Amino acid sequence: MKLFLKKFLKIKLKIQYYDYLYYTLNSSIISDYQYDKLCFSLKSFKKKYKIKKSYLEYKNSLIKKNFSYFPEITHKTPMLSLFSGSQIEDFEQYEKKIKKFLNSSQNLEYFCDLKFDGLAISLVYEKGILLYAVTRGDGLVGENVTVNVMTISTIPIVLLNKNVPKFLEVRGEVYMKKKDFLLLNKQNYLKDKKNFSNPRNIAAGSLRHRDPEITRQRNLQFVAYSCNFFESILNLENHDKNMFLLKKWGFPICKYFTICNTIKEVYKFYEKINNNRAKLNYEIDGIVIKINSKALQKKIGFVNKAPKWAFALKFFSYSVITKVIGIKFSIGRTGILTPVAFVKPIIISGVLIRKVSLYNKKKIEQLNLCLGDYVKIYRAGDVIPKIEKVLLEKRLITVQKIIFPNFCPVCKTKLIFIKKDSLIYCPASFFCSAQNEKRLLHFSSKQGVYIPGLGITLIKKLFLKGILKNPVDFFKLNKKSFLNISRIGSILTKKILNSIQKSKKVTLNKFIYSLGIFLVGKVVSQNLSDFFGSLNNFLKAKYKNLRQVEGVGKNIANSILLFLKLKENQKIILDLQNILFISSFFANSFYVKKFSMMWIYDKNFVLSGKFLIFSKKKIFKIIKNNGGNIKYDISKKINFLIIGEKYGNKFKKAKLLKIKILSEKQFIQKIKK
Ligand code: IVH
Repeated sequence: MKLFLKKFLKIKLKIQYYDYLYYTLNSSIISDYQYDKLCFSLKSFKKKYKIKKSYLEYKNSLIKKNFSYFPEITHKTPMLSLFSGSQIEDFEQYEKKIKKFLNSSQNLEYFCDLKFDGLAISLVYEKGILLYAVTRGDGLVGENVTVNVMTISTIPIVLLNKNVPKFLEVRGEVYMKKKDFLLLNKQNYLKDKKNFSNPRNIAAGSLRHRDPEITRQRNLQFVAYSCNFFESILNLENHDKNMFLLKKWGFPICKYFTICNTIKEVYKFYEKINNNRAKLNYEIDGIVIKINSKALQKKIGFVNKAPKWAFALKFFSYSVITKVIGIKFSIGRTGILTPVAFVKPIIISGVLIRKVSLYNKKKIEQLNLCLGDYVKIYRAGDVIPKIEKVLLEKRLITVQKIIFPNFCPVCKTKLIFIKKDSLIYCPASFFCSAQNEKRLLHFSSKQGVYIPGLGITLIKKLFLKGILKNPVDFFKLNKKSFLNISRIGSILTKKILNSIQKSKKVTLNKFIYSLGIFLVGKVVSQNLSDFFGSLNNFLKAKYKNLRQVEGVGKNIANSILLFLKLKENQKIILDLQNILFISSFFANSFYVKKFSMMWIYDKNFVLSGKFLIFSKKKIFKIIKNNGGNIKYDISKKINFLIIGEKYGNKFKKAKLLKIKILSEKQFIQKIKK
């Protein structure tokens, strides 16, 4: 499959997955902004490459299981989503298209209201009495949650006012007030129960709770935003008239709505709401703009999953003022010390924020932050909470300067300060309990000394029992170690012990990486392994030698030396050296980096044709392991084209650009020298 198609399908699968999380599991792990960005790149892909329909119809192969406890109901009319954008230009374009479609340049009348960040629900009434309530589901079929919906006090079970159609379908959003969300989380915190991350998730969970009493306690809210009549004599000409009617029948409708005739007016409303949304006691994520005339709505119609007569103009994350009530210093896996500010809990864009990373000392100085300060917090990229600024005008004399510790807050080892104090870390590695467990997981991760079958949960259990304390203990595991571990029987034990034996063969780069030395990642580990060739050489390394290794600067060199200097670490490495079979990358094999391979380093290669002596994969590996780069198109930046049988057009292009061309044989001869 062509590379761009692969990329395209990858984005598409990602979107499908997020849709599944959002619509089926009522959960979301990315922000609207990120989601929209994905959709946008998918769109541009389609445009750029004119991807064929058959690919676009790449079926929902992913998880389409039904985990439902509530019976399913098919919607009377599908529950759709909305076209959306986050800039006024997006709306301008939308209007242009609609006007073109209508072949008219006249102003359109819009009904604008708020886009509630809850979950959509459809209520069906027969002769003014609630017949059933259904969740959105996949838009066509949803879950019957009538019993739970009846506990929501603002949803009328019997409609007020007599003049109701025989069948009425009301659509709206169920949501939770911010204050109820915060209160519930506070109660959960006190009861040591899990926290909900945002009001939307909690509302979704509560609506589908098996116990309607719980739903009632959650104090859910409802707002109606549209309706359909069936077998009715009512025929209203405008959306706003419908909304007034809904209000008359007893439905809560959005308090803030307006009729706009121009883009300018729409934008004014958008700005006004955006500037005030932190003050609302519920979460919204934009405004919804609907063409007011029902006749025009009908004419404009629908496309795929959305009506063309409505548009959602979304907001970016906003900032909220809160107070810093505590500072803690946390120690990460590599020992790095990160200051964290604990704040009075607030919600930003639907997510509860309790703490904000302060990164390092420099950042605190830049912010001029003190404990007790009032701060403005926003969610960067709509995700990570960050302090935008300190409100110095609100500072009280009682604030306290943030003082960094000199000793590790967990194991009390003296901390190391580098990069002008902007990086501080605890060098105690496996002997610091803040790092210990995480380091063991890192050691046995796929990129390290991987032990298949020994997953995170099991490692955690063994760690808790004190059976695993440092990496050497992995190789001391025996039948007895697993005796009292739940769900580990004799067959599994045998399998794990077998795989431990196999994992003893490890390459030097993986071994170095698995030690989790501060600042030493995968690339540096590979470079160290290439440079030193053996563990002994690496252990003997002096500062001067380390600095010769690509990618190793002052800080990395010092961090390595400090790690290797520690007696406890030396003991672990020595023990591991006796247990493991550590080889430099493919040592004694064909792939080992030899002098004769140096010509490959940092050069760009393109391959074309069928390779008969070596496979394409093998040639790729040789090039990559010797520091070369694989490219797919011929350009001036390419140094070598390697051709096999039946090579393609690349040959001509390479000739034109005077690029060196090697046959498969020539390539092999060159590396075997
Ligand atoms: S109008 C699509 N108005 O947003 C049919 N929808 O992201 C017309 N939503 O599925 C919908 N507030 O559940 C409309 N004021 C509002 C809304 C609103 C929230 C939801 C709705 C829709 C989703 C699309």
